[in-house]
Amino acid sequence: MVITAGLGRAPAERSTLDVMTGLPTRTLGDLTVSALGVGAMVLSPGMYGEIDDATGEAALRAAVDAGATLVDTSDGYGADGHNERLVGRALAPVRDEVAIATKFGMRIPDGEPGHRFEVGLEFGELAVNADPRLVRGYAERSLRELGTDRIDLYYPHFPDPEVPIEDTVGAVAELVAAGTVRHLGLSNVDAATLRRAHAVYPVSAVQAQWAMWHRPDHDLLEAADELGVGLVAWSPLGSGFLTGQVADLGEGDFRRNIDRFAHLAANNDRYAPVRSIADELGLTPAQLALAWLLHQHPHVVPIPGSRTPAHIVENLDAARVRLGDDELARVDAALAAFRPEGVVDVFGSAS
Ligand SMILES: NC(=O)c1ccc[n+]([C@@H]2O[C@H](COP(=O)([O-])OP(=O)(O)OC[C@H]3O[C@@H](n4cnc5c(N)ncnc54)[C@H](OP(=O)(O)O)[C@@H]3O)[C@@H](O)[C@H]2O)c1
Repeated sequence: MVITAGLGRAPAERSTLDVMTGLPTRTLGDLTVSALGVGAMVLSPGMYGEIDDATGEAALRAAVDAGATLVDTSDGYGADGHNERLVGRALAPVRDEVAIATKFGMRIPDGEPGHRFEVGLEFGELAVNADPRLVRGYAERSLRELGTDRIDLYYPHFPDPEVPIEDTVGAVAELVAAGTVRHLGLSNVDAATLRRAHAVYPVSAVQAQWAMWHRPDHDLLEAADELGVGLVAWSPLGSGFLTGQVADLGEGDFRRNIDRFAHLAANNDRYAPVRSIADELGLTPAQLALAWLLHQHPHVVPIPGSRTPAHIVENLDAARVRLGDDELARVDAALAAFRPEGVVDVFGSAS
């Protein structure tokens, strides 16, 4: 293993060293961002427990200072647009250095129906509305909350079970033509939905759950490769589990709803061999989880979330880690033997 700026590379493509930030970059379609981005969801209260705005804003500034150039939010994170407002305030001084990705369809306007679909386990159902009639309004509200004049990457958060994806994507394409949206993304879709959407307008990135304990659908990866679509890996640290630091969960932490966290002690024991490899390589488990993920695909950009500046710097350093074939084989063997208790396939890939 080598840790050196600019040498972090995926099997098929050397990453480019960004001269401004020193972090390697990757491409999501025609959008270039740091190889590791930042997920802002954890920075709103009620997601992973309590947090105040000063802490959230400091976390985002630490991420940008450390070279992250992609920040991921959603109109559905936090109460009434809290997360987008937080992201907008924190990034205002560095707006031109960072690509802001946000998602729509979960903060449904009063009087409009929510189209329900099953996500499984204790989450039960979610409701979205990605009717093309509403898309311009969603974008205008997100632009206001974010305090910006453009959204760099705009995703329907989930495909709407009652609206053809072509219609939703067609409405986003109009926003691209108007200049308020720069790139189209899709989140939580299957391969067929990606192909249908891409036929209407080029998709830059697909966001899917991807981490050591959950791999995306093979057909989705194949379709993304064929179409030249980048991959954004959500919950790349297994919602914190893969850091090896989660021993229990406080009240108000939504991970209590995730089945695998109901078996934390057993799963931490089973995960010990992977933690040991990280230790031997001189990495933290979080760094190994992110470096391993970066080596899975030349166009995957993980978006870990953290409220803690030291964790953020630690995580972004993983973009500079190069794992050799032997090291990857050891990790893969340990992961093949790692059988976590409980189901993780929630928010998997809806069609
Ligand atoms: N498209 C979708 O449907 C969807 C769904 C879920 C998530 N996402 C996106 O994915 C992003 C990331 O997902 P996530 O936040 O759920 O999970 P994650 O990134 O897998 O894990 C976040 C957790 O890991 C902890 N952590 C991070 N770095 C650490 C380190 N170095 N050492 C110890 N602990 C560390 C954080 O705690 P600390 O705060 O203490 O560091 C936090 O509790 C979200 O922000 C969101 O943008 C998208």
